[in-house]
Amino acid sequence: MSRFFQAEVSGNIHLSQTHNILKLAPLQPHVRPAAGQFYLLRASETLDPLLRRPFSILRWDDMHLEFLVRLKGRGTLLLRNMRPGDSIDMLGPLGNGYPEPLKDETPILVAGGVGIASVFPLIGSVHAGTRLFYGAVNSTELYLLDDIKKLTGHIYISTDDGSMGFKGNAVERLIESLNDLAIANPAVYACGPEGMIAALLKFLNERGIPGYISFEEKMACGIGACLGCVIKTGQGYKRVCKEGPVFDVREIVC
Ligand SMILES: Cc1cc2nc3c(=O)[nH]c(=O)nc-3n(C[C@H](O)[C@H](O)[C@H](O)COP(=O)(O)OP(=O)(O)OC[C@H]3O[C@@H](n4cnc5c(N)ncnc54)[C@H](O)[C@@H]3O)c2cc1C
Ligand code: FES
Repeated sequence: MSRFFQAEVSGNIHLSQTHNILKLAPLQPHVRPAAGQFYLLRASETLDPLLRRPFSILRWDDMHLEFLVRLKGRGTLLLRNMRPGDSIDMLGPLGNGYPEPLKDETPILVAGGVGIASVFPLIGSVHAGTRLFYGAVNSTELYLLDDIKKLTGHIYISTDDGSMGFKGNAVERLIESLNDLAIANPAVYACGPEGMIAALLKFLNERGIPGYISFEEKMACGIGACLGCVIKTGQGYKRVCKEGPVFDVREIVC
């Protein structure tokens, strides 16, 4: 089955001036996604912008695929302005997704900002003891809280300015509470901004805690052909779109 397909915009909820949830109904047979995979969305029917933009799959059912979009530049502005009935050209699902946690592991999800879209599908689908550490710049940039609370009671909020929950980022919150929580065999699943991921990698390496991190790199083809998205790993350069976007922390060269 081809991973190229057309979809119709079935909903576009503006959550704030910077974030929207785009709900798309595929018009052709499509491959079911897995948590941590992503799609390339073409924001325009013209050649401007030329490249499709990558977005993590947030939520899906038999009829719909949903994406959380943060306004950044021209592509995301066009996606923000799409209206129900508009058609959109898609490629996906792409990438490897998150591995299943081992039976004796307790998954700890760590999300910074729009990184929540990547780990969201794991919240309700793995292990009853799963914890979510979710951080944002301030309380108005924490999205999907009502949906998350329906899926888990183990949610630890942080904001950079202290306007909700712990003052600091999600990794600082995790470090502060990990001993108190006495979690057996933690395994971390994370996505977020560069600084947060760097701090998380350092912490996991120091403590020898296993982890899987979803990386964001600028992408062109999305299918492993252009080498535009490579990162350095212990086994040489790897393509974020093909071997990733999720990497085992033991592979990553800091
Ligand atoms: C695997 C993956 C999953 C992602 N998931 C999400 C998500 O769920 N929600 C969300 O809001 N954003 C997500 N992003 C980031 C999103 O792709 C960029 O913000 C978006 O492409 C910016 O496009 P633009 O035209 O608005 O911005 P511009 O800055 O005008 O884009 C210019 C070029 O840079 C690329 N680009 C810019 N920033 C990024 C970035 N951070 N990562 C990758 N490419 C970038 C664009 O694809 C484009 O080719 C994800 C990125 C990757 C790689
Ligand atoms: S975007 Fe082309 S190889 Fe990854």
